[in-house]
Order: sequence, then structure tokens, then C-alpha cells
Amino acid sequence: MRIDIITIFPEMIEGFFNHSILKRAQNKGLAEIHLHNLRDWTTDKHRRVDDYPFGGSAGMVMKIEPVDRCITSLKAEREYDDVVFMTPDGEQFNQSMANTMSLAGNLIFLCGHFKGIDYRIREHFITKEISIGDYVLTGGELAAAVVADSIIRIIPGVISDEQSALSDSFQDNLLAPPVYTRPANYNGWEVPEVLLSGHEARIRDWELQQAIERTKALRPDLLDD
Ligand code: ADE
Repeated sequence: MRIDIITIFPEMIEGFFNHSILKRAQNKGLAEIHLHNLRDWTTDKHRRVDDYPFGGSAGMVMKIEPVDRCITSLKAEREYDDVVFMTPDGEQFNQSMANTMSLAGNLIFLCGHFKGIDYRIREHFITKEISIGDYVLTGGELAAAVVADSIIRIIPGVISDEQSALSDSFQDNLLAPPVYTRPANYNGWEVPEVLLSGHEARIRDWELQQAIERTKALRPDLLDD
């Protein structure tokens, strides 16, 4: 999978992709992340990416020309499954969207800033609009990093124990059960006895019951589906 991220602050997320599992995914050739500085696609000497809104309301608006140039040049090189705009008024991101998007070959993520982007960009270039939650960030960079992280980690081969990606919270609309490691007794706080029993069927059954109970208590809305 290849993800091209268009942003005015590439440094903000560059480091994020150079660590841990995301770094390993790139080293293994399973994912490519390309950051594009939108200012590189301006033609004026001030490298302007924003301008005043028509109609006189407050705030600045991201200009269409640099975005058009950048997206058009990327599309000339390869086909993209989606051109995604990160925006608080997009479709709320969830695990099922991550699963679907992890099957894509090439994706473009556009990170917004200022008051918004010229609406014609959304009408003519964007094919999917994603929000990572009902709150407003200073820009789309963190949202792009969140979405890229969640889709790259489930590409087969990225996590060595594939089972562990499949047993994540939300993969089956259930929160994950509690997990423990050594020591079995810490300051008198004991690990549930069943986990030490070595009885595979009882352990799996306990985990499922815990997952159901935690989901009922913490996220009952997930069980409605
Ligand atoms: N840009 C600003 N806020 C955002 C959000 N909540 N989700 C996605 N992109 C955003």
C-alpha cells in the first residue's frame, strides 16, 4: 500500500511514521508513506496556500491551485483508490472503515487547515471525507496519522502475530478482554486463576465472557449492531 499525505506541516507527522510497527511495515515493503509539502506546489514568491474567503466571513481558506497541482501530478503517476480529506464534518472513522481501507493499493490523504478548504476541492477531487471524532483539531495531520496507523497495522504481514490484529478491540464489535503478564502475584494482586490453568477452552470462554461484560458496561452501543 502507498499513502501520499498532502500537508502544509510535513514535519509534524514525519517522525510518527519512522517508529515501531509503521517503520517496520515500510522496511518490509508492505507500506510506503510519502509526505508532500503543499507549499512546494505554489507558484508565487510567498508560497501562499491560503486566502481570504469570498463573502467576507472570518478566517482563511485553503486555496485550490496548489492542491489541484499536487493531486493532479500524483494521479498522473498512478491510480488511486481514494482521495481522502481529513475533516471534522466527514464520516466518523471506525474499525470497519479501517478494514476496508487496508485493502486499498494507493491512497491520497489531504490535511486541511485554517477555516476550511475551497469547497470546489471537495466537490472535484475528494472521494472520501473522514473525521476521527467530534472535536476540532488544528489541522488534519493528526487525523491522517491516526487513519494511516490503523490501516497499515492490519495489512497482512505487518504485525508478526496476525492473530493479535484480529483479536483487537472492535474487530468483532466487542472490546478486548483484560490481559496480564508476569508476575502472577504482584503485591497480593492476583492474575485470574483461569489464565494460569493451562485449560485452553476454559481460557477462551473466560476471555469471551469478559469481552461481552466489558462491552456491556463500557460501550453498550456496540452491541446494538
Ligand atoms: N481536522 C480537524 N479536526 C479533525 C477531525 N476531528 N477529524 C479529521 N480531521 C480533522
